[in-house]
Amino acid sequence: MKVLSVVGARPQFVKEFAVTRALRDDHEEVLLHTGQHYDAEMSAVFFDELGIPEPDYQLGVGSDTHGRQTADCVVGIEEVIEAEEPDAVLVYGDTNSTLGAAIAASKSSADLVHVESGLRSYNREMPEEVNRVLTDHAADVLFAPSERAAETLQGEGLPDERIHVVGDVQYDAILAAREHARDASTILDDLALPPGEFVLATVHRPRNTDDPDRLTAILDALADAEREVVVPVHPRTEQRLQDLGLRSEYAAELRLVDPVGYLDFVRLLDAAARVATDSGGVQKEAFFLDTFCLTLREETEWVETVECGWNALVDADPDRIATGLTAPKPDGSKPSLYGDGTAATRIVDVLEDGPTPERVEPSPIRDQ
Ligand code: UD1
Ligand code: UDP
Repeated sequence: MKVLSVVGARPQFVKEFAVTRALRDDHEEVLLHTGQHYDAEMSAVFFDELGIPEPDYQLGVGSDTHGRQTADCVVGIEEVIEAEEPDAVLVYGDTNSTLGAAIAASKSSADLVHVESGLRSYNREMPEEVNRVLTDHAADVLFAPSERAAETLQGEGLPDERIHVVGDVQYDAILAAREHARDASTILDDLALPPGEFVLATVHRPRNTDDPDRLTAILDALADAEREVVVPVHPRTEQRLQDLGLRSEYAAELRLVDPVGYLDFVRLLDAAARVATDSGGVQKEAFFLDTFCLTLREETEWVETVECGWNALVDADPDRIATGLTAPKPDGSKPSLYGDGTAATRIVDVLEDGPTPERVEPSPIRDQ
């Protein structure tokens, strides 16, 4: 089997880290990097420290409008599909690189395989929601991280034969990296952070960064925390802080640092008392590492983490953020929500069992 894997943004490098090892055991993988993320700390650091193979293709699409960035991915990926003739094109998550690959693959004879399928925020203002829905509905093989995600896909009329619940590849990645991070990362010493006594925060969603009221409400609430707050700052957020002339003001109250590599991030998340984030992946990783999460959004795709008490939706509300920062951690056992850490091998097993079923049109939505 020959698989073209497409990555482009930071969370996809982490997911690829989990899958590439299982895939390359017995199969040929061609790796394509769209170049959506390109700064060394947003891209190269993940390849270097996680041993992800050097991409075979680098499109260099860079930053642009949604339409142009996605279109550049479509054009470049189509060319690579024509040259490589893969059996399957594997895409992760919900970025513009994901959608670009989905469009190119769905118009080729290769199967489109979507990892992290069936997630929904039901907020169409998020570009990621549009990317997810379109990718799921174009895909031939849907790998869902949870039963809930599979039910969502079934509810949208996607055929059972395409849907496989395999667990979450980011759980695989955390299991592979946690101990290594404890041994190898020096970030706690470097930043003089006492384990269990600091808050980790990340903010990068346009809804939070591009609305000055929301951005300042979140950062002010974090600055009021009793514990030290360390914030690896995404380039989008860095730009907004500079545009607003607020960077030095917040740097006096928060530990603003450049984005960190995965091992350092896992170490920080593992040792933090709390994490406050609008990231999708970080919500799950917090759950895996037993770190209580405050989600700086009104809704989440990872609803199970909220239902079991390990995640609280606090939006950009200073009072809810303050309450969450001091609330006790849930006690008792945690449910197993996202598989057993073998999602990558399950994905490869399913793909090996191919050929995938003939395309079946989704069943029509029926009257209740
Ligand atoms: C993208 C994804 C988002 C994901 C996030 C992970 C989409 C629509 N969004 O958002 O789902 O959560 O990646 O981090 O695909 N920039 C740099 N250097 C880089 C990359 C970006 O300076 O290496 C700056 C540019 O100014 C760019 C901005 O960050 O315009 C946003 O980057 P972009 O990839 O468009 O979106 P993200 O916010 O990173
Ligand atoms: N991450 C990292 N360094 C950072 C911030 C995040 O390595 O400074 C990792 C994090 O562990 C997770 C992934 O990047 O695996 C999440 O990326 P991000 O929050 O940018 O995207 P999202 O998951 O929201 O799409």
